[in-house]
This record gives sequence, C-alpha cells and structure tokens, in this order.
Amino acid sequence: MSSIELDHVSKLYANGAYGVRDVDLSIGEGEFVIFLGPSGCGKSTTLRMIAGLEGITSGDLRIGGRSVNNVAPRDRNIAVVFQSYALYPHMSVRDNMGFGLKMRGVARSVIEEKIRDAAGLLGLTPYLDRKPAALSGGQRQRVALGRAIVRDPVAFLLDEPLSNLDAQLRAEMRLELVKLHRRLGRTIVHVTHDQVEAMTMGDRICIMREGRMIQVGKPLEVYADPVDTFVARFLATPPMNLLPARLTGQGDGLVVSGDGFTVEVPDMHRAAYAGLAGREVIFGLRPEDLHEAPQPGFSRIEVTVVAMESLGVENILVGQIGTGGTAGKPLELSARLSRHFTAPVGARVPLYLDPRPMHLFDPETTRAFPRPSLRLVTN
Ligand SMILES: Nc1ncnc2c1ncn2[C@@H]1O[C@H](COP(=O)(O)OP(=O)(O)O)[C@@H](O)[C@H]1O
Ligand SMILES: [Mg+2]
Repeated sequence: MSSIELDHVSKLYANGAYGVRDVDLSIGEGEFVIFLGPSGCGKSTTLRMIAGLEGITSGDLRIGGRSVNNVAPRDRNIAVVFQSYALYPHMSVRDNMGFGLKMRGVARSVIEEKIRDAAGLLGLTPYLDRKPAALSGGQRQRVALGRAIVRDPVAFLLDEPLSNLDAQLRAEMRLELVKLHRRLGRTIVHVTHDQVEAMTMGDRICIMREGRMIQVGKPLEVYADPVDTFVARFLATPPMNLLPARLTGQGDGLVVSGDGFTVEVPDMHRAAYAGLAGREVIFGLRPEDLHEAPQPGFSRIEVTVVAMESLGVENILVGQIGTGGTAGKPLELSARLSRHFTAPVGARVPLYLDPRPMHLFDPETTRAFPRPSLRLVTN
C-alpha cells in the first residue's frame, strides 16, 4: 500500500511565509502525478513534506493509510531525486548508487545485484566505474535515478529532474521516465514548471499557485476546462487568448462581443451561459481554435499581423484585434495556423474562429463560468 494522502496540509515557515496552504490531494498507488506551477508556488515544499524533509504545520499526511506526520524521512521509504543530482564527486557511479544501501547495512551481494539491475534498466552498465565528472548531464541524472531505484522505495518524488538538461535530452528523458514508471509500477510525483512535461507524462496534473492547489485533473481535462484564467494561460504555449467582452441576448440567441469581434454562442453552451446576458465577461479561446479558412459555424474576425513565427511544423500568428486595447496596450491574440500560411507584418488578414471550445470567465474573480465539458477525454 503506497497511496499518499494530503488532508488539509499547510506549511507556515518560521518567517511567517506560507509555503503551502490547505492542500487536499489523494495520490493513488502506482499513479504518476505532476505538480505544475510557477516558481515559488509551493511545489518543492509539498514534495519535501511528503518525503519528511520538512515538517507540516497543520493537517494530516498519510502514506499507505498511516499518518506519517511524526515519522522520520528514512522510515517513510520514499526516494527524492533533485534537479541538482547531488552525486558524490569522488565516488564511482557504482558506489554512488550503492551508498545508501551500504549505510543501511545491506549485504554486499544484495547491493551488487540491485546496482546491476538498476544500471541495466537505465543504460548505465558501461559507466559503473566512472566518476560523475566523466558523465554527461543526462547520465548523471540517470545515476541519481538509479540511486533511488536501488532503494526500492514505495514512491519516487522527482523535483524538476529534467530542468538542467538541454531540450533534446529532456524530450528523451521524458519518454524514459514514462517507460520507467510503467516498468516499476511505483507511485511517481514529478515536479515541473514545463507545460510539455505536464501534459505528456502524468496520469493527473496538479496546478499550484501561491501555495494552493487550484486544479487537479487529467491533462486533457485541465486543458479543456481550466477553472480560471491563470490555469487557462499557464498550461499551454502560446496561452489561451483572453479578451474583454460583453454577453448580450439577441432573440433566442446569445452573442459575445468585444473590440473587433462578435461571436454567436453555440447552441451547446447557450443554456449554461443564458443567465449571464448583460454581463461583462472575459472571452477565452485557444490559439488552435482560430483558423485560416472558414467553416460552417465559424465566426470571421479581422486582425492586423504583428508577428509571424514560423516553427516549421506550424506558423504562429500574433495579431492585433480591434481599435483600442486597454491602458494603451493594443489587444493581441495568437493563432496557430498551418505552416503554409504566411502574411507580412502590418497586413490585415481574416481569421475564422471556432466558437465551440469557447470559455467565459468572470472578470472580477477570474473563475470560469461553468458550462458543459466538450468531453475531449473519453476514458
Ligand atoms: N526554508 C524556507 N523558509 C521560508 N520560506 C520558504 C522556505 N522554503 C520555501 N519558502 C517559500 O515558500 C514558498 C514556496 O517555495 P517552494 O516550495 O520552494 O516553491 P517552488 O518549488 O514551487 O518554486 C516560496 O514563497 C518560498 O519563498
Ligand atoms: Mg522548487
């Protein structure tokens, strides 16, 4: 049994700063969970509390159903892997991996066997006699993982383990960690501020902000139905477009309009949004829901091209919409268009907006107004 439960857990640091506030989370045995959020939001603090490296101020923390508030880190059998690797420079890979077990008095033959297995799993067998200085960043990160694996912990807590790696190696290690999770079947909590890691690696994402866990769900659920404008903007690049708007009733229908756009609310959302007619709202639409060609049901808008970013696989258009903007800042939006679409800076171009995945947020609270989910996720 290695479920991890945080029951109204808070961490108040001695200087009066809250590291984490009232976090409620239940992580299932064998689950792969991602903590995502900007720097300082409490990701590491939460991880350190689970590992026992940091005491909790209030609430209850349970591992395998047992309260561990007063259980020492070494008795929780949880392994932590840090971004910095924290390898001993004077020891070989083999000794780095076996050191913890040796300290615990595990028999030499057992240690050797565990190192052999972990090294095989991680592709480290040819490097066992090297010192960390003679390894690449990716190999060092594997040694740090290997040191955790030989301990056979009930859960792995990974604190931004890929942050020091270059983009290509990160992409490789991302896949390797997912495969490793499948093979080991152990609980993994992976901390990151990288949205791609968050979307692709875990069973669930926990989005944190200012010490709170503001949304927990499957990656595609959180992507499809962000609870507020912060999550809407944080989870993807380029982020969701957010435009000030007003909702008005027109006959049987509803229309969202703002500076430079008018969009008819699709039937599927009309009932949910009907009560908001007459209100100021924030209209949210992802860049991938703006298209270069019309289709039935799409709304036409016009933008002035501010920038075109050609990524090879696609082109990102940044366009100015409307006449004014707010506080002297022009109103801009991004559209993910095909790699064949080009337009010079300054050109007026039409774009076609698919209203079905639209969101409306409350400008005062920044919370999403509830509407039926599009059910992008079926399982
Ligand atoms: N030892 C500490 N003493 C006081 N405040 C701390 C300490 N460690 C972290 N904090 C504060 O707690 C908050 C969360 O920090 P942390 O968990 O490290 O964030 P993250 O890992 O998401 O970047 C931050 O505001 C940070 O300044
Ligand atoms: Mg951190």
